[in-house]
Amino acid sequence: MNVKETIEKRRAYRSLDPVEITRDLIEDLAEMARITPSCANKQPWRFVFIYDKKILNELFKVLSKGNNWAEKASMIIGVFSEPENDCIIGERLYYLFDTGMATAFLILRATELGLIAHPIAGFKETPAKKILGIPKEMRLITLIIIGKHSEIVNPVLSDSMKLGEKQRPPRKSIDEFIYIDKVKEPTI
Ligand SMILES: Cc1cc2nc3c(=O)[nH]c(=O)nc-3n(C[C@H](O)[C@H](O)[C@H](O)COP(=O)(O)O)c2cc1C
Repeated sequence: MNVKETIEKRRAYRSLDPVEITRDLIEDLAEMARITPSCANKQPWRFVFIYDKKILNELFKVLSKGNNWAEKASMIIGVFSEPENDCIIGERLYYLFDTGMATAFLILRATELGLIAHPIAGFKETPAKKILGIPKEMRLITLIIIGKHSEIVNPVLSDSMKLGEKQRPPRKSIDEFIYIDKVKEPTI
């Protein structure tokens, strides 16, 4: 699969079947993050790979209500960092950007391996950090839900989520978010 095919194949599916988690898989995914570019090569990202059933069950309790589909996860990857881990240039803080890039590369590799890697923001950060032993001053940016795509739609999903299993949620057209040469025409 080439990069374009992998990007096109990636979906945030919510109907998951179990998948075997191995150290090899974790290292394979981590390697993609390891070689991601970052400002001044600061490598701000941190990942915690959770597949211990007891810890997973604790994490399930701090997910937002609409994220109960994630209880089928075989692994969850906690992505965390803090501003000081990366370049701060005036008001530009690069830690979220660089950690986001590393996360995207990891998600694409998971996709290439036939896995679902679905990032979520719907969780309670403070208790989740406590469960995972993440230091107070750091931001738990996302949890990536890992599993295999199930053809059987998970009955816990809302109607719009069920629709999302069938078709990709609509996107803006390209001309709504790109500009050529200048964002605004000169006023004079
Ligand atoms: C930062 C971020 C947070 C998200 N949080 C949630 C979430 O809490 N629950 C959920 O079901 N999906 C979540 N999603 C998935 C998006 O809803 C999904 O990517 C979007 O609807 C587009 O669908 P697609 O990824 O299948 O193209 C999140 C995605 C991102 C990137």
